[in-house]
Amino acid sequence: MEDKRLIEVDFPLREVSEESVREKNIRHGHISTLHVWWARRPLAASRATTYAALIPAPKDREDLRRKLKFIAELSKWENSLNKSIIEKARGDILEFFGGRPPRVLDCFAGGGSIPLEALRLGCETYALEYNPVAVLILKAVLEYPQKYRNLKVKVNRSGISQKTLAGEDACEEVPKLVYDVKKWGEWILEEAKKEIGRFYPQDPDGSIPIGYIWARTIQCQNPSCRAEIPLMRQFWLAKKKNKKVALKLIVDRKNKEVKFSIVREKEIDFDPSQGTVRRATVRCPVCGAGIDDKTVRKLFQKGKSSQRMIVVILHKPGRKGKTYRLATKRDLEVFKQAEKYLHKKVEKLKEKWDFEPIPNESLPPKETLGFRVQRYGVLKWGDLFNPRQKLVLITFVDKVREAYYKMLDENYDEEYAKAVINYLGLNFDIFATYNCSLARYRGDTESIERIFDRQALQMVWDYGEVNPFGRSRGDWLEILKFGIKVLENCSKISSKNSPKVFQASATELPFPDSYFDAVITDPPYYDNVPYGDLSDFFYVWLKRAIGDIHPELFATPLTPKSKEIVADPSKFGGWEKAKQFFEEMLTQSFKEIYRVLKFNGIAVIVFAHKSTEAWETIINSLLKSGLVLTASWPIHTEMRERLRARESAALASSIYMVCRKRVKEENAYFNEIKEELEKRVREKLEQFWEQGISGADFFVSAIGPAVEVFGRYSRVEKLSGEEVSVQKLLEYVRRIVSEYALERVLKNPDLGGVDNVTRFYLIWRWTFGNAKVHFDDAIKLSRPLGVELTEIWDKGELVKKEKEFVRVQGPLERAKDPAFMKRRRITSMIDALHYALILWSKGQREKIKEFLEETGYLRNEMFWRTAQAISEVLPEGDKEKQLIQGFLYGREEYLKGARTKEPSLLDFMER
Ligand SMILES: C[S@@+](CC[C@H](N)C(=O)[O-])C[C@H]1O[C@@H](n2cnc3c(N)ncnc32)[C@H](O)[C@@H]1O
Ligand SMILES: [Zn+2]
Repeated sequence: MEDKRLIEVDFPLREVSEESVREKNIRHGHISTLHVWWARRPLAASRATTYAALIPAPKDREDLRRKLKFIAELSKWENSLNKSIIEKARGDILEFFGGRPPRVLDCFAGGGSIPLEALRLGCETYALEYNPVAVLILKAVLEYPQKYRNLKVKVNRSGISQKTLAGEDACEEVPKLVYDVKKWGEWILEEAKKEIGRFYPQDPDGSIPIGYIWARTIQCQNPSCRAEIPLMRQFWLAKKKNKKVALKLIVDRKNKEVKFSIVREKEIDFDPSQGTVRRATVRCPVCGAGIDDKTVRKLFQKGKSSQRMIVVILHKPGRKGKTYRLATKRDLEVFKQAEKYLHKKVEKLKEKWDFEPIPNESLPPKETLGFRVQRYGVLKWGDLFNPRQKLVLITFVDKVREAYYKMLDENYDEEYAKAVINYLGLNFDIFATYNCSLARYRGDTESIERIFDRQALQMVWDYGEVNPFGRSRGDWLEILKFGIKVLENCSKISSKNSPKVFQASATELPFPDSYFDAVITDPPYYDNVPYGDLSDFFYVWLKRAIGDIHPELFATPLTPKSKEIVADPSKFGGWEKAKQFFEEMLTQSFKEIYRVLKFNGIAVIVFAHKSTEAWETIINSLLKSGLVLTASWPIHTEMRERLRARESAALASSIYMVCRKRVKEENAYFNEIKEELEKRVREKLEQFWEQGISGADFFVSAIGPAVEVFGRYSRVEKLSGEEVSVQKLLEYVRRIVSEYALERVLKNPDLGGVDNVTRFYLIWRWTFGNAKVHFDDAIKLSRPLGVELTEIWDKGELVKKEKEFVRVQGPLERAKDPAFMKRRRITSMIDALHYALILWSKGQREKIKEFLEETGYLRNEMFWRTAQAISEVLPEGDKEKQLIQGFLYGREEYLKGARTKEPSLLDFMER
């Protein structure tokens, strides 16, 4: 290829990874605060990869060094509006494209990170999405700010952060769109407040209720008790360093009643983290009877659950901090009044709108990925809100609609009014994520958290109800502030080419052949996120609020799903079919990318998944479409600590795969390319190792380089003529990676003397730590290492099967197996090491010596090195790691047979 790009040669992986992870903590002005979209790509990585794909490969080392340094600067959040840096980046791209901005497409644009960065870099930008909710977000991020950025309005000196905008002393110019979104957002709030503000009365002392904590309740199933049990996950109200407040259960056994009091600091003489419900299993505080999860679900399904308002969270103007008091009869009365008014309002709106105000559309079937609430009888989208929340939401919908028509009455341009309303619709969405009975209350932050921080809908027993006028997190105005900041930032990007947003499927792109210079995109990650189903939460409300003004986006009762690319077994009747659908649709969209890409165009495709199966499907799709990989970069996009804490084998990185159109049709024999393939993989592994990529990420990062070699050919065969499948290729890659990792962790390229099971153990711990791993993935790791899991499990308890998962056990678990302790089934080096570690933990030093001498490991260098390596791959604080460190400490001593002062187990365990 003549016009190699920088990204095909090198990339500042570490710096861009750091920026990408850091970005997760940035809220003010970041597009993620405008609206929820799941698995957003960081702007840092989007900007850096887009730039690196659109500038030429460097001429020499010095040029390379300079460019990498520049990309690191460019990727910083702080520089996203830095004129000189952005102008320089734009200039470089323009120069390479001969003065014409390149035409760039993202055909899975989601929340818009990639097209926003393409726009920032001066490209002619196209964003396409299948999901209508995402399309509205894309319009808000890309289309409207550009369309109206030059329409300005004068505001007073204190700028737009002040409430009154168009004062007499107007002197500063701001985009009119920003001004109007704020103005009409405030108008909506005021109108709503006039109507329903009375349902959130202040306390007599002037304190404002900012929220209410509710507990769902069920009746105790013990016939002689029947107490109403409030389901609470925990009892903390404030759990901060210098402020501790908790709810204390007061049990009235005589009347079989559960009440509460609020206690502070030293009065907290119990553990508030222990609630009345844990994973849907309930214990009655009155009689102690338990209710299992099945019964709990049944009670909910049959409508035999209720709820109780327990606490009111208050804020007193002029004072810092929040206070708490128990909910009273008066609070409940007001709530009941709101409920009454809700019924009236619903009737009124039905007449006014001619449709059901509260969403009566169904949730997806209960098996749907990520959905956990249907099992509790929550079946309609409108069921996710309590009556007062319903009232709030339909009232705000009403006002959003009125705002639009009022703008038209005031002679606003229709298209412009649409734009203003679009932002207010999105604001409404975030508002609904707080105003929802699945919003969790958190004592450590003393705040009510919106739903969807995870890509799932889960049951919440004790939820927080936000006061929409309370001037704290989750209130209408607070949310609007964040949205406006995003709009301001987006309006600061100046582009000559107006970006274009399309609602279509990536499998049928509405563009001519050879149209784009680049396609930079982030397709769905297999089964990770059921976008369509999740976004229905928003869709049903948006349809009501702004559906009339975007009829083309709201033609269906729920978001369209037939062409949504996702591997969801609940939709296709099983995994095989789901996988097949995913692969076919993805192949079709990659073929489309191929078609619309110019001859010398470049594509960057992002993918992240920990399962080999998902990788198999995406690589298959790529190869079938005629795209070939020329480079790939594992960029960290997730916070490692957070992942670790969950004890799962989750990935920290996404792979950015750089692709070109395949130019020649050529076949090859696997034997002929093996050497080159291994060389390429090892070369890249070397680089990734140095960059700190490890564990599950390491294997995934090797897939790209392997496919670079493999995918050059349209068909790779064995000597027998049989085609080598991607599955086989990945197995081969796995072997190279394992060997490489073993060499590195053992610090020795000669692996002789370490048996397969021990190698397997070492690589397992290095890759997955202590996580429970799906059987298929476990097999994929063990096989290339020459270990048949089915043959070794339950023998000596090294490998344990738990349903469809596999766990590899450490010495402490194995010590529970009497057979193992009788020294039966000690067949590998790792068995011996574990046995020795158990002896060590019991303080039996003499026995260790005997045992090691007998088995011949005492003077076996590889044994000690392996022990050392295992301890190095285990995370800090791991028990096995501590044992090994202690054990290794005594090595000399076992050799000499002399006894010196022995470290006690506690010394190590408590470090
Ligand atoms: C991984 S997400 C993209 C996230 C995006 N990069 C961001 O930063 O927000 C994949 C997107 O593909 C969309 N999608 C699924 N099927 C599609 C199809 N057939 N055509 C276009 N988009 C589709 C989903 O709605 C989802 O938004
Ligand atoms: Zn009871």
